[in-house]
Amino acid sequence: MKIHSQFQPHNLFAAGFVTLLCVCCLFSPFPVSALDNGLALTPPMGWNSWNKFQCDVNEKIIREMADAMATNGMKDASYQYINIDDCWQGQRDAEGFIHPDPQKFPSGMKALADYVHSKGLKFGIYSDAGGKTCGGRPGSRGHEYQDALTYARWGVDYLKYDWCGCEDLNAKGAYTTMRNALRAAGRPIVFSICEWGQNQPWLWAADIGNLWRTTTDITPCFDCTLDHKTWQQWGVLQILDAQKPLRKYAGPGHWNDPDMLEVGNSMSVNEDRAHFSMWCMLAAPLICGNDLKHMSKETLDILVNKEVIAVDQDKLGVEGFVYSTNANAEIWFKPLSGGDWAMCALNRGMQPQNISFDWKHENVTDDFSKRDAQFDRTIYSLRNLWTKQDAGDTSQVLNAGIPAHDVLMLRLTKIIANEP
Ligand code: GLA
Repeated sequence: MKIHSQFQPHNLFAAGFVTLLCVCCLFSPFPVSALDNGLALTPPMGWNSWNKFQCDVNEKIIREMADAMATNGMKDASYQYINIDDCWQGQRDAEGFIHPDPQKFPSGMKALADYVHSKGLKFGIYSDAGGKTCGGRPGSRGHEYQDALTYARWGVDYLKYDWCGCEDLNAKGAYTTMRNALRAAGRPIVFSICEWGQNQPWLWAADIGNLWRTTTDITPCFDCTLDHKTWQQWGVLQILDAQKPLRKYAGPGHWNDPDMLEVGNSMSVNEDRAHFSMWCMLAAPLICGNDLKHMSKETLDILVNKEVIAVDQDKLGVEGFVYSTNANAEIWFKPLSGGDWAMCALNRGMQPQNISFDWKHENVTDDFSKRDAQFDRTIYSLRNLWTKQDAGDTSQVLNAGIPAHDVLMLRLTKIIANEP
């Protein structure tokens, strides 16, 4: 934990959280220290413009998304951030201050942030460590402190910071500069590192960012890669597989980010459900990427399933792991606070698959969080998190059929513990 000597009055907020984090660290399974801004103690939840609108973003869309989130059940389900991605930027003025594109954001960013805040939500923005963003707009290189100050003045609560056009910049150095600039600006701002896993940020970013992208960009496809010659986009399974070695690097305040959600963006309902479930098993940031104003009931039902979200937001902050693989079925477990577990059986294949799981003969342990389910001597009740029904307990063998590209997701709660 880095504690800085220049505490100023506006940093008292941060100082309180440093103390809290220090106390938490004493009881945490996590060996690394987290960024000391006190934010994202559970994975951030919100919406971002990129996956659906790409560069066609404007203040009307942002207002509509805030309106939708505030009223459609998402805010009630803990979604908070409304984040503008690339292409909001206009020009820098003679003194180097950045201004929004006057055609797309004629009311200015302060007014937009005020609007989002008036809905009880938080406001996020995007920039890039290089001279130009991936969309060719002005990046922050050479203007980091000025930009951080500008964002703080506008009322920004979340910054996604990309990695296009960085030439020979050193990633740790560049992200440290912006972390320090945000700190100096004096406003608590979630710092989202987006360098696509190229420099293994999980090894160095725990006290620099609150989250870091681990891979290239997602695309709304369950099992595919899109080749653009100079770069690729990955489907849900391709990104999921890349997370498997990384769980030990994440925890409260510093998360692996397998990219924003594609729920509602053209995959089947089964695939959307599996995608959302697996992101929750990963304790991933839940940043929706669909059109919140025009979505089906099935999409909304997935996004606001509070019992599934509770798995993601569990305060222990431990990512799930693959326990077993049989043909196309992967069985994942995630330790939860209070002795509970989440179990998710994922059918990766194109055909329905049956699974049979005889709990008392399964040895589910997690060296990282030092948890042992002890199914041989402990009985847990089972709750099906998608049908929202109780589903018996672990004294019986579980037999289930899982449709193609879908999941069975259960929460396990201890009901009888027999000491040996
Ligand atoms: C990169 C990021 C995306 C998005 C675009 C915007 O590709 O990884 O998430 O922010 O840039 O141009």
